[in-house]
Amino acid sequence: MSARKPIRKAVFPVAGLGTRFLPATKAIPKELLPIVDRPLIQYAVDEAREAGIEQMIFVTGRGKTAIVEHFDTAFELETTMSERGKSLDILEPTRFPPGDIITVRQQVPLGLGHAIWCARAIVGDEPFAILLPDELMVGKPGCMKQMVEAYEDVGGNLISVLEIPREEVSSYGVIDPGEERGALTEVRGLVEKPPVSEAPSNKIVSGRYILQPEVMRTLEDQEKGAGGEIQLTDAMARMIGGQPFHAVTFAGRRFDCGSKTGFVEATLALALEREDMGEEVRAMARRLLG
Ligand code: UTP
Repeated sequence: MSARKPIRKAVFPVAGLGTRFLPATKAIPKELLPIVDRPLIQYAVDEAREAGIEQMIFVTGRGKTAIVEHFDTAFELETTMSERGKSLDILEPTRFPPGDIITVRQQVPLGLGHAIWCARAIVGDEPFAILLPDELMVGKPGCMKQMVEAYEDVGGNLISVLEIPREEVSSYGVIDPGEERGALTEVRGLVEKPPVSEAPSNKIVSGRYILQPEVMRTLEDQEKGAGGEIQLTDAMARMIGGQPFHAVTFAGRRFDCGSKTGFVEATLALALEREDMGEEVRAMARRLLG
């Protein structure tokens, strides 16, 4: 057993505007769009729970309350279903002990770094996880569990990374890699959305983090970065050197569900793998492809 503080809290920034999915996301949060029959936020929460995390902190904004409702008791629905003899098992992943679903508001979406900073009072003085629900990570074990295991080994700060074709790096946070050991890579530097010619590697930050609470103080006096937003990547970059910083290459698949094509790909991939519908979807895909 290690003496490291366990990761008990996860922050889910869900206050973004989801402009790439308009008009679908005008009245419905992007994080509630379903991949087959589970909303994106549910996949992320399940992944955190699998990693042993107990408290789920949602950084919400206006129009996002349905996300919180999703994890509440649906009294009328449950009573009616019970009266009709229907099983409530399907709702099990949406249930939490009282006090374990916590929300905080980001009044203006000033960027991911700012959203995380809004959770500072709840995070307090312990290491915590961050999961971006629009990045869907599929693997066994899940991405956060792989990261928690790595954390027990090396401590400090961890980010999940994946390798992509070099010419695509300028849309992402990119690491400057140091020494490698198995799935772990030392992080020597981080840059947000670099031009391809200046990118230090093709390893991009992919939506999962375990950070020390000091990041909140770093975010506190942070200037705006790329896109005029307060960037988490910039705050993390400033912490390198002071504390151990590693990247974990996720053994699994990642779908960028913040983009329309990534969302469709995730829907198809997961539907094809489902026991209850895979065969039917495969036949349907064949028909459509003619
Ligand atoms: P994205 O940039 O992918 O989401 O942020 P977005 O801004 O909602 O989407 P587009 O680009 O307009 O389509 C990644 C995650 O960070 C959250 C988002 O909700 C998303 O889960 N976020 C982003 C915030 O909570 N606050 C912000 O200020 C920005």
